[in-house]
Amino acid sequence: DGDLRELADSHGLDLGVAAAVDPLVEDRTYQQVVSGNYTSMTAENTMKWSLVQPERGEFDFEGPDALVDFADEHGMSMRGHTLMWHNQLPEWLEEGDWEEEELREVVQEHAEALLGRYQGRMESWDVINEPFEDDGPELRENLWLEVFGEDYIADALWTANAVDPEAKLYINEFNVEGGGDKSDALYELASDLVERDVPLHGIGFQSHFVHGQVPEDLVEQMERFTDLGLEVTISELDVRIPDPAGEEEIQAQGEEYRRVVEACLEVARCPGVTVWGVADHHSWVPEWFPGTTDALPFDEDYVPKPARSGMVDALSRH
Ligand code: G3I
Repeated sequence: DGDLRELADSHGLDLGVAAAVDPLVEDRTYQQVVSGNYTSMTAENTMKWSLVQPERGEFDFEGPDALVDFADEHGMSMRGHTLMWHNQLPEWLEEGDWEEEELREVVQEHAEALLGRYQGRMESWDVINEPFEDDGPELRENLWLEVFGEDYIADALWTANAVDPEAKLYINEFNVEGGGDKSDALYELASDLVERDVPLHGIGFQSHFVHGQVPEDLVEQMERFTDLGLEVTISELDVRIPDPAGEEEIQAQGEEYRRVVEACLEVARCPGVTVWGVADHHSWVPEWFPGTTDALPFDEDYVPKPARSGMVDALSRH
């Protein structure tokens, strides 16, 4: 019911999906769902530190290459994910006892290798991922903050900008989509970076939503940041439902997907919406939030759900 890809293209909207390497290489149906519905792709895991540089100085680009090549072949754009995060770091990095100067070289080397390899082929990069504590307004006490102090954020943006001057550089965060302390802290940080002319171009609202709790004021929350001259993308959308999900919830979830895509269309500087996974059996949700399920637009048999129709509706009406 409606060609999602064509509709997205007609709006100039990047409609993205987070993809995993194995099924993208091996599973025909998975490939068809990705290339038949979406215009953009994010690497769900394969561009993270532990996978790209498992041992110091030993880089593995097999997975990232597979994704970027697939995107090229199918005329899709890519979002890069991610450079400065606290999760999925290799052991040698996490357990090292770092002097500031040496760690700076490590980051520089990694950025040159990874961002450098795909320079010119990435629409954007999540340079900074989840810089704030899960529920709070404080900067997260990660390795980067510990060794470099607060300016690791500006420094990493400058580093990324030097390696890939064309890519839009992002801070990507969760639990900020409906306002609150954490969102205010992110706003302060973004304002400060903009004021200092640091190369920050966008904010990612991850948007890992709970069914029934999609913020009513999503548009206003996004516009607060676009008023700073930044773009705001919906970077990791999913809507999880308590298990077992009934027909009613699955239908209502379709409306929620519609509302989110409409919000992006309504905001002048929202380049796109990315869904965090291809089909329900790939989703991170059941593993990380036991007792919740069915968060994505395709079910475990790759059958399109009302969530997909909701996105089609949003794009057809606008
Ligand atoms: O690769 C290993 C495999 O070798 C091993 O056999 C298997 C056994 O558990 O684990 C595999 O690693 C898993 C990895 O995904 C790759 O599939 C990890 O256990 C699993 O924890 C990891 O989860 C990922 C998670 O980030 C890690 O923090 C999810 O797939 C991924 O969807 C999720 O994505 C994050 C974004 O990057 C940032 N925002 C939040 C979002 C959801 O958590």
